[in-house]
Amino acid sequence: MALSWWRLELAVLPELEESLLWKLQELGIGRVAIQHRPERPEQRQLLAWLPASEWPEGERQTLEAALARLADPFGLTLPPLHWQQQDEEDWSLSWKQHWQPDPVGQRLLILPAWLDLPPEHGHRLVIRMDPGSAFGTGSHPTTRLCLEAIEALAAGPDAGPASWRGLEGCTVADLGCGSGILGIAALLQGAGRVVAADTDALAVRATRENAAVGGCQDRLQVVQGSVEALAELLDGRPADLLLCNILAPVIEALCPAFSAVLAPGGVGLLSGLLVDQVPRLEAVLAAEGWRSELASRQSAWGLLRIWKA
Ligand SMILES: C[S@@+](CC[C@H](N)C(=O)[O-])C[C@H]1O[C@@H](n2cnc3c(N)ncnc32)[C@H](O)[C@@H]1O
Repeated sequence: MALSWWRLELAVLPELEESLLWKLQELGIGRVAIQHRPERPEQRQLLAWLPASEWPEGERQTLEAALARLADPFGLTLPPLHWQQQDEEDWSLSWKQHWQPDPVGQRLLILPAWLDLPPEHGHRLVIRMDPGSAFGTGSHPTTRLCLEAIEALAAGPDAGPASWRGLEGCTVADLGCGSGILGIAALLQGAGRVVAADTDALAVRATRENAAVGGCQDRLQVVQGSVEALAELLDGRPADLLLCNILAPVIEALCPAFSAVLAPGGVGLLSGLLVDQVPRLEAVLAAEGWRSELASRQSAWGLLRIWKA
């Protein structure tokens, strides 16, 4: 008999998206997708598929309560949850259906590994991904803000602070690389080399696999660990561009070590921040000698660009 699945669907409030994804991951629910139409990025639905045999009614109620609690610190109420039962075939179909070619910015296209390049996107640089194994499918606003900011910096030396020399041939440090999507995007746009690190072994594997899918494995090195591991890989030659999309409190804890991975003339892109967390982080960065500006935002999320004064 075909195994049946529960398909859970709910509208995503921007403040809660990150917490919901982490909670589901923590509970071992890995089949998760965020659905949005490229032209309406602010209207987002979260979909998750749970094996019906492991999630009887009582367990699903406990899950609902756990998700609802995530809204409390923000003074919000979780939108209603919709459950629908699906059989095995429907599940694999719907899972794959939710990954469509996804254009980002003017130049990039995120393309699931099993799809052909649609002719209408033939002019774009293609990031081939196998979504699902690690954070960074490109659908999250914090990832998109980074991808757009990398594209902006790739426009040339005039596209950054006075010290920015352009992306061409430069070394990129990708801290908290997830699926590797940001480093791969930088390589596609001219970067010479990426060194990447993530504390999660699954992310390290996903980055390696996605680099191989994209044919750039010889220019991307990845290790399990954090900023210290990245500094070791860089071996005393800090990068020209630092990419770091993690949560604000984690970035705050990491920033005293940024000088070990980002050269004085380089630029850092920090994402994963809610706009109201920015002033506090800017103060901490300033104390470490970094200048910063809120370079872009999408709904409640902001992206900080940092460089040395
Ligand atoms: C929000 S995801 C970003 C993934 C990808 N870079 C993107 O932009 O889509 C954050 C990643 O940082 C990793 N991470 C969390 N804390 C970290 C730390 N202290 N050092 C390095 N990586 C960390 C997580 O495992 C996760 O893969």
